[in-house]
Amino acid sequence: MRQGRGAFGAGISCAAMSPNGSTPSSPDAPASVLAAVVLAAGQGTRMKSKKAKVLHELCGRAMVHHVVGAAFAAGVKDVVVVVGFDGESVRSALSAAFGDRARTAEQAEQKGTGHAVQCAMPSVSPSAELVMVLCGDTPLLRSADLVLLRDAILADPSAPMAMLTTFVEDPTGYGRILRGADGRVTAIREHRDCSPAEREVREINPGVYVVRRAFLEGALAGLTPNNAQGELYFTDAVAAACAKGGTLAVTVGDAASLAGINDRAQLAAAEEVLYQRIADDWRRTGVTIRGGARIDASVTVEPEATIGPNVVLRGATRVGAGASLDVGVVLTDVTVAAGAHVLPYTVATRSTIGEGAHVGPFSHLRPDSVLGKGSHVGNFVETKKTTLHEGAKANHLAYLGDGEIGAGANVGAGTIFCNYDGFQKHKTTIGAGAFIGSDSQLVAPITIGDGAYVGTGTTVTKDVPAGALAIGRIPQENKLGYADRLRARLKARSGK
Ligand code: UD1
Ligand code: CA
Repeated sequence: MRQGRGAFGAGISCAAMSPNGSTPSSPDAPASVLAAVVLAAGQGTRMKSKKAKVLHELCGRAMVHHVVGAAFAAGVKDVVVVVGFDGESVRSALSAAFGDRARTAEQAEQKGTGHAVQCAMPSVSPSAELVMVLCGDTPLLRSADLVLLRDAILADPSAPMAMLTTFVEDPTGYGRILRGADGRVTAIREHRDCSPAEREVREINPGVYVVRRAFLEGALAGLTPNNAQGELYFTDAVAAACAKGGTLAVTVGDAASLAGINDRAQLAAAEEVLYQRIADDWRRTGVTIRGGARIDASVTVEPEATIGPNVVLRGATRVGAGASLDVGVVLTDVTVAAGAHVLPYTVATRSTIGEGAHVGPFSHLRPDSVLGKGSHVGNFVETKKTTLHEGAKANHLAYLGDGEIGAGANVGAGTIFCNYDGFQKHKTTIGAGAFIGSDSQLVAPITIGDGAYVGTGTTVTKDVPAGALAIGRIPQENKLGYADRLRARLKARSGK
């Protein structure tokens, strides 16, 4: 994730130097010191889903993917994700996203956040002296805030633990931060366990901590299920730390970045925040994005590209420098080269749009369409597994499936590649500079040679040699005066 905040390192003095000599505010913490445990074993009852809560997506990525990504971006090298409910799916999503970089630990029964951390500890690298504890359901987490947190504990060797806090308008559902008369944190009280006065507290626990391992092991052993849910709460470790040297609280101004997602309404709100953040980050790199475009976290866009309203960019889509995507374009796993123009309401999937090509409005590029440099595909043209070489054009109303269209060839309106015989797909090849007249059907497998002409309305069933004209239509006959006589006869018959 790109840096989005000016607060990076602000307000925290960096007394400690990390062992490799880099300053603590560098995102590259040494691997031997900092690990992260990400809690992701819960079902997420309030999602009302068969799928684990942390697999619900925003901006094209599972919640847990965003959290683990933020940990890596903050320089954490060793990440252990605690899985349980729907654990196999969570494991495979993590390995698809991170390979073997993110490891997992099993929490077979979900007995609370403290129990989840207990389950993770045997898998945490023995050399880790600091352990971050994160929740898989806080997908807006920023790596910059994690770096602040790490720097806070590095700066105070006496603190057993540091945590993030923030203030929210509506603290319902969150653990409240309780502070003593001296202003220091004394405990976290879960919403259900709060007294009426404690419920008024608007400073909340976002569930983001960094703990010295030497303290953590003892604190975990001391947890008891002494609360409304009968669970082992990790938050009780905070109270224990407060008794022993204190818990450092790093307060983050941007509460939105710490939102915990418990239901689908909160998920939708978080997704809006993230789309906005992604768009603003690209804008700062020199991309013009007009209102309402939705660019997934996995997409890349080069400077001077222009992205119109309600454009949706998903998956591995890459947009080249100076390309323009007009209103309502939807691209999934598409590469758009520099200077290409994609006009409104074009839909494309797993395809490539070449340099300076023109596409749309209302074009449909299905998988494996490759549009060469300067090629044109116009309205109501559908392509699939078809290559248009440099400068080739198909401007209106066509189905081009399983084809290869040579450089500079022109495919007229209403052309159909008849590629399917009910069992197999067959290929249509059109040579360079060929001209396919409107309303032609090319019955594949078929080859039209370089520079050949196909007359309008021809059904082509035999290969056409280079330079030849293929024409296959009934010769026209004009019957002079016939229309007038016909009209008179029909009128008389109707009685009008
Ligand atoms: C937790 C905190 C609360 C904090 C809030 C922030 C505790 C006791 N409470 O409450 O102070 O304000 O997060 O969002 O820690 N999980 C497991 N195993 C379990 C239970 C939970 O892995 O046995 C995971 C869940 O999958 C989830 C995360 O831990 O990703 C948080 O669990 P959740 O049940 O959402 O906790 P909250 O009630 O929101
Ligand atoms: Ca939660």
